Amino acid sequence: MPVAATVAVATPSRRYDILIGTRLLAAADTWRGLPRAAHAVVVSNPAVHVLYGSALEAALANHYGQVSRVLLPDGERYKDWPALQTIFDHLLGTGCDRKTVLFALGGGVVGDMTGFAAATYMRGVPYVQVPTTLLAQVDSSVGGKTAINHALGKNMIGAFYQPERVVVDLDTLATLPRRELAAGLAEVIKYGPIADAGFLDWIEAHLEHLLARDAAALAHAVRRSCEIKAEVVGADERESGQRAILNFGHTFGHAIEAGLGYGAWLHGEAVGCGMVLAARLSAALGLADAAFAARLERVVARAGLPVRPPAMPVARWLELMRLDKKAEAGEIQFVLVERPGEAFVRAAPDALVGRVIAAAAARTP
Ligand code: NAD
Ligand code: GLY
Repeated sequence: MPVAATVAVATPSRRYDILIGTRLLAAADTWRGLPRAAHAVVVSNPAVHVLYGSALEAALANHYGQVSRVLLPDGERYKDWPALQTIFDHLLGTGCDRKTVLFALGGGVVGDMTGFAAATYMRGVPYVQVPTTLLAQVDSSVGGKTAINHALGKNMIGAFYQPERVVVDLDTLATLPRRELAAGLAEVIKYGPIADAGFLDWIEAHLEHLLARDAAALAHAVRRSCEIKAEVVGADERESGQRAILNFGHTFGHAIEAGLGYGAWLHGEAVGCGMVLAARLSAALGLADAAFAARLERVVARAGLPVRPPAMPVARWLELMRLDKKAEAGEIQFVLVERPGEAFVRAAPDALVGRVIAAAAARTP
């Protein structure tokens, strides 16, 4: 097989394909046509590498004279400078040159870090995204945002740098822990409110199939999510405007992640709760009706994601959100939704934001 679908991404800096299918990792054909090099480096973590590393490395050996690997510690709390440094240590220690191709095998943490290493090693080497979490397959592997975290803020140090190709092997989702599947569904759900009302209807109708890992449902969800992301990124690669809508729920979500300590809540969990807060804020501003926020809360909860914000003083929320990359001159910006499929970015008064958070925290489940 089997490439079931190919989604093209066309940005000013690079055009590339997202290959979506099954049995892709081990197929030599999957890796044909990539930049030629003497050396390929697989970047992964021990948990993912033990499952899929050998198949990928064997397939890459058909195209590259030398295939080596570097394994990063697993987890969001290691999306940092010391872990990044281990990639550079390996690249320099094994004599990698400017043509060396990096392969990011793993979830969004591995993908974001490999992308950042590729963007900066010898001022830029090619890399390929091989996402193995639902979240990475529908979002983080596409679009060229690469970054590491800082103790003060999420994804604060990074670069825009597009991959050569994205290879989504849906078979890898079979081993994904249930909690991680739910986290990925948060980013799938996101595409409905921001871009496609019909897709939100479809998600609501097929959520049980997605949670049961029905192959056809997952394939459709990944494909439609990638199509939407490709369109948005193609129109605004470096987030000078419209791309910001992809951050629906993220202003609140990043505050949860940084405020509780990276890894306490999964990124997708923080985004799920953040989307509910953003919808409630949209309603509080009179932009959307309360029924939309209630609807979104229901689907996020059905996905198995938290909908009540964690206990944090409102002043702390605001302090963290002022560090968000969308903030301008200290004014926090939120992605708000007027009706499903229509999103935009706007500031909101601190007092109102505080009331929305406090009301959501006080709600009984
Ligand atoms: P992750 O990379 O931490 O992976 C989640 C867990 O699943 C890890 O423990 C990993 O080892 C394990 N895992 C991965 N694939 C597996 C598989 N097939 N089977 C079993 N276990 C597997 O988390 P994530 O949710 O994939 O990514 C979150 C990160 O992505 C965050 O850092 C977030 O900021 C980033 N992100 C980036 C973008 C972007 O545009 N660059 C977009 C969204 C999110
Ligand atoms: N995940 C947000 C973006 O890629 O812009």
